[in-house]
Amino acid sequence: MSAGWSLLVLIGTIATMAGSAWLLISNRDKKATGERMDHEFDGIEEFDNPLPAWWVTLFFVTIIFGAGYVAYYPALGNLPGAGEWSSAKEWQYRVDQHELRYAPLYEELAAQSPDELIKQPRAMQIGRRLYLNNCSTCHGVTAQGSVGFPNLTDEEWIWGAEFDNIKSGIINGRAANMPAWGEVLSEQQIREVVDFVKVLSRGDTQAAASQPGQTHYVTYCVACHGAQGQGNTLVGGTPLNNDIWLYGGDDAAITASIVNGRMGNMPAQGPIVGEEKAHVLAAYIYSLRTKAQSKAP
Ligand code: HEC
Ligand code: HEC
Repeated sequence: MSAGWSLLVLIGTIATMAGSAWLLISNRDKKATGERMDHEFDGIEEFDNPLPAWWVTLFFVTIIFGAGYVAYYPALGNLPGAGEWSSAKEWQYRVDQHELRYAPLYEELAAQSPDELIKQPRAMQIGRRLYLNNCSTCHGVTAQGSVGFPNLTDEEWIWGAEFDNIKSGIINGRAANMPAWGEVLSEQQIREVVDFVKVLSRGDTQAAASQPGQTHYVTYCVACHGAQGQGNTLVGGTPLNNDIWLYGGDDAAITASIVNGRMGNMPAQGPIVGEEKAHVLAAYIYSLRTKAQSKAP
C-alpha cells in the first residue's frame, strides 16, 4: 500500500471508531422525555425512550475490543500492529509444522533404494503427489510432456535412464545447448542433413549411411548425437535414431532445430523440493521408466 492510501485507511479507521464513541457519549446524557413523538407510520408509534443500558454497554465493549484488535493486528494502513502478525508468517508457520510432521517420513523414504521404493504403493503415491505439485506444469499431468518438455513415460532418456541420472537432473536441473547451424551450413547442406535425420529416425542406419547428408552429420553432429544417432547423455543430445521427438519430427520442426538451435532448460528443483523429496520423486519417475521398458517389445 502506498503511504497515501495507508494514511487514508489509518485516519478513516480511527475516525470511524472515535466517531462512534463520541456519538454514544454525546447522546447518553440527553434526557429522554418518555413521551410519544409526533410521527407514526401505519399505526406504529415512536416514544422518546433512553437507549437500553445493555445495548449501550455492548456498543462500548465492541469499541474497546475494536481498539485492541486494531492495535494488535496490522489494521491501520501499513502499521505492523503490536503482535506483528502477518498472513505470510502464518502461512510459513503452517508450512514449517507440516514439514516437521512429515520429516521422519521423508527421512525414512530417502534412506531406501529406488527398487525398494518402487515396490511400495504408498511411496509411489507420495511420489505422484510430489510430481503433480512440482513437475506437472511442465511435463504434463500424465508425464507425457509436450513440445520442448520431454515425455517421462517413454523409453527415450535424453540425459540417461538410470536412477542417478534422473535424481541429479531433478536436483540440479538440465540445460541443453544445441548450437544453431543456420550460419554454418548452406541451404543445400541443411536440406540434406534434414533428410538424413529423417531416414535415421526410422532406425535404418544402413539406409542413412548412403544419404548425402551423412558427411555433414559425421562432421558436425556426431559429437552430441552419437555415431549411430543414439544421442549423448552427457550433453543431453537427443537420440535421433528413433521416432521420438522433443521438438517435432516433421520437416519444419527438424529444420528449425538445426537452423536455430535449441536451448531446452529445466530449472533446478533441488532448492524447491530438497534432497529427500527429490529422491522419492526420482524413484517415482524411475518407476515410469520401468513400466515403459516392460511395455517395449
Ligand atoms: C554441441 C552439441 C550438439 C551438436 C554439435 C549438435 N546438436 Fe543437435 N541437439 C543437441 C542438444 C543438446 C539437443 C537437445 C536440445 C534441447 O533439449 O533443447 C539437440 C537437438 C537436436 C534436434 C531436435 C531433436 C528432437 O527430438 O526434437 C535435432 C533434429 C538435432 N539436434 C539435429 C542436429 C544436427 C543435424 C546436428 C548437426 C548439424 C546437430 N544436431 C548438432 C546438441 C547438439
Ligand atoms: C519449468 C519447467 C520444468 C519443471 C517445473 C520441471 N521440468 Fe523436468 N524438464 C524440463 C525441460 C525443458 C527438460 C528438458 C531439458 C532438455 O531440453 O534437455 C526437462 C527434463 C527432465 C528430465 C530428463 C528427461 C530425459 O529424457 O532425460 C527429467 C527426468 C525431468 N525433467 C523430471 C522432472 C521432475 C521430476 C520435475 C519436478 C520435480 C521436473 N522435471 C520439473 C522442464 C521442467
